[in-house]
Amino acid sequence: MGGSQPAVEMRGITKVYPDGVVALRDVDFTVRKGEVHGLLGENGAGKTTLMRILYGEIEPSRGEIWIFGRRVKFRGPWDAIRQGVYMVYQQFSLVPAFTVLENLILASSSMGRAKLQDVRRKAEKIEREIGLEVPLNARVEELSVGVQQKAEILKALMSEAKILVLDEPTSVLTPIEVRELMKLLSRLREMGITIIFITHKLREAKEITDRITVLRRGRVVKVVETRDVSQEELAKMMVGREITFDITKKAAKAGAPLLAVKDLWVRDDRGLMAVKGVSFELRAREILSIVGVAGNGQRELVEAIVGIRPVEKGEVVFSGESITQMPPSEVYRRGLVYIPDSRAVGLILDFNVTDNSILTRLKQFLSGGRILWSEARRYSSRIVKEFNVLVDSLRTPVRHLSGGNQQRLLVGREVASNPKVIIAAEPTHGLDVAATEYIRSLLLKLRDEGKAVLLVSTDLDEVFQLSDRMAVIYEGQIMATGRPEDFTAEELGLLMGGVKCEAKS
Ligand SMILES: Nc1ncnc2c1ncn2[C@@H]1O[C@H](COP(=O)(O)OP(=O)(O)OP(=O)(O)O)[C@@H](O)[C@H]1O
Ligand SMILES: [Mg+2]
Repeated sequence: MGGSQPAVEMRGITKVYPDGVVALRDVDFTVRKGEVHGLLGENGAGKTTLMRILYGEIEPSRGEIWIFGRRVKFRGPWDAIRQGVYMVYQQFSLVPAFTVLENLILASSSMGRAKLQDVRRKAEKIEREIGLEVPLNARVEELSVGVQQKAEILKALMSEAKILVLDEPTSVLTPIEVRELMKLLSRLREMGITIIFITHKLREAKEITDRITVLRRGRVVKVVETRDVSQEELAKMMVGREITFDITKKAAKAGAPLLAVKDLWVRDDRGLMAVKGVSFELRAREILSIVGVAGNGQRELVEAIVGIRPVEKGEVVFSGESITQMPPSEVYRRGLVYIPDSRAVGLILDFNVTDNSILTRLKQFLSGGRILWSEARRYSSRIVKEFNVLVDSLRTPVRHLSGGNQQRLLVGREVASNPKVIIAAEPTHGLDVAATEYIRSLLLKLRDEGKAVLLVSTDLDEVFQLSDRMAVIYEGQIMATGRPEDFTAEELGLLMGGVKCEAKS
């Protein structure tokens, strides 16, 4: 076995899912040993499918796979892991109630060896070697998403992974965590680990990858050396047409107040106070962003506003009427809608596209206790068309849609109901460049039509691009509010970390 063998070689891979969807057609995919290889493509292009095949999780309909020059046919992920391939999903494979160490022991015992002290010693050695800081004795559920991800990577290294697959690893991270991950990946590359990196963020792809394979509709359209291409060229390869990056925001004069939050206090799931006296006003023709590191009370705040979560103290007023503690269905009916940051929360994955389209406004489709299915289908197909949800049939379970297409359905469902105020949490999470541009332009258009948007986002580019005003939240309190031009990205970063700078209010 020579050192020049590619780490991964997939040849002629075709995948037809049981429902007839052709996700990959005759794909050749080669990754050199020790490189960071980017896998790019629009939502639904087949990236995750290709990697799940590599990981032995699903079988290709046709095609062959070589790992370091050896033909393999994995019987399942455990088999892939044994041979040095490890895939990190957005949904981590850690048991939340266990400590990191317990998770590592669990993983290594399934591989036939588990001595507590050995596992600990080995974990500490790896942590030292690559400068990875993961508290081994902390319970996973108490760690931030960024640290959980590190724990997952530690788990991969414990199993002696030689090929690490990361499926959109940065979409759940804060800007600071993204920097740390990039550094970590560079170190792993220096150690000779081969990395396959799926992302929609072209800037990240440019920064960290050595080569890039671009997929479009299940085919490879291009394999390039990263240094030879610009972000614009990459975008064009992915979509097959020119796309513009600059979204222009016209100046708009805010109108009447639509939503007012007054001294709101809200508890989190563990009963701790997560929102501590938040007040703000949102006006028509305005986008107000709540900016912060995930987990600083944003979710509790918006859930309390729309009635999903109890209010401890304070008031929510919508169009002059108090809606504090009103049931969500009533809130939605009045024209205040909510796009949650998690598709697993907003959608029922085993239900089909039509079911999910009417989920948040069932009453509207009920007559005499029966669901008006033909109307439901009409509404659903309108959403699918208007928001370009890539799906073969309205009867397809939502679980079978690619991540980005699930997101389009989720956003489309709420926007199509013609609301007055849209609360959008991470609305472009997991979306490809074209869809991101589309959703951002859509939010601006809604604003220009006189609606109001409360944007909850950890994506600073997005916040600067869209906001008329922004409010920085830290540990449940608003640290500062202002217009985008009042802040530099650095100041915003400090405020998000709880460091007050002067004269911002
Ligand atoms: N289990 C499944 N059953 C049927 N079809 C599926 C299944 N999983 C994925 N698909 C379909 O296969 C195609 C490729 O999906 P895949 O998830 O690989 O895309 P992706 O490139 O990862 O997209 P995204 O960027 O949105 O994550 C899509 O049309 C999707 O709807
Ligand atoms: Mg995917």
